[in-house]
Amino acid sequence: MRKKIVAGNWKMNMTYEEGQKLTSEIVNMFKDEAVKNVQVVLNPPFPHIYPVKKLIGDTEGIFMGSQNCSDKESGAFTGEVSAKILASFGVQFVILGHSERREYFKESNELLSAKVKQALAHGLTPIFCCGESLEIRNAGTHEANVKFQLTESLFDLSPEDFSKVVIAYEPIWAIGTGKTATSDQAQEMHLALRRHIASKYGKEIADDTSILYGGSANPGNAKELFSKPDVDGGLIGGASLKSRDFIDIVKSF
Ligand code: PGA
Repeated sequence: MRKKIVAGNWKMNMTYEEGQKLTSEIVNMFKDEAVKNVQVVLNPPFPHIYPVKKLIGDTEGIFMGSQNCSDKESGAFTGEVSAKILASFGVQFVILGHSERREYFKESNELLSAKVKQALAHGLTPIFCCGESLEIRNAGTHEANVKFQLTESLFDLSPEDFSKVVIAYEPIWAIGTGKTATSDQAQEMHLALRRHIASKYGKEIADDTSILYGGSANPGNAKELFSKPDVDGGLIGGASLKSRDFIDIVKSF
């Protein structure tokens, strides 16, 4: 059975104090409100990882993530952080291929393929992002676009490795814009992705792959999005910076 996952992507937000406060609130609400059957992943900027992980402690159901990792194992790559280093600090998930990384840092499908392999080699679960621009959607090639992103970056993995990957579908036109995809649009794309995975790895692996939706998800629309059969959770940006909103999304299944 595939897992339900809600991952918070803090992006480049939160000072040390703000991050501590947000995490404490999330951990307390998660415990007090007895949230069950969903994995929560916090993905703060790198310096937060150690102190946030301490606050999570042994809370069952909350996991430590990061927003990126290097495609290299180690060495003279100033400013980079490897999957190996992250794993040694107890990081369990890593967001890879976010559209902001693709756009502003020119990350290619090929580079992402190397990052995914680094993550897997060190026991991190990649949350692999795919999604189309508004231009591509208007041209009607959105399905082909996301399938190509998966094929190029993931389809040389062994079935065993692929089954460790989580997918996040994030239409770029919905990220941070307040313009959410409709639940039908999300379902249509998630189903297309799942069928594409099945064509390569078979139905069983495809059915077990968690596919998250990202793009202006909030407490008001999460229930509707998560009610769709192929939407297994969310990758949450803006709303993950407010503890109440984030936990309400987590409770939307
Ligand atoms: P958003 O961001 O929820 O603020 O739209 C989602 C994401 O980029 O992961």
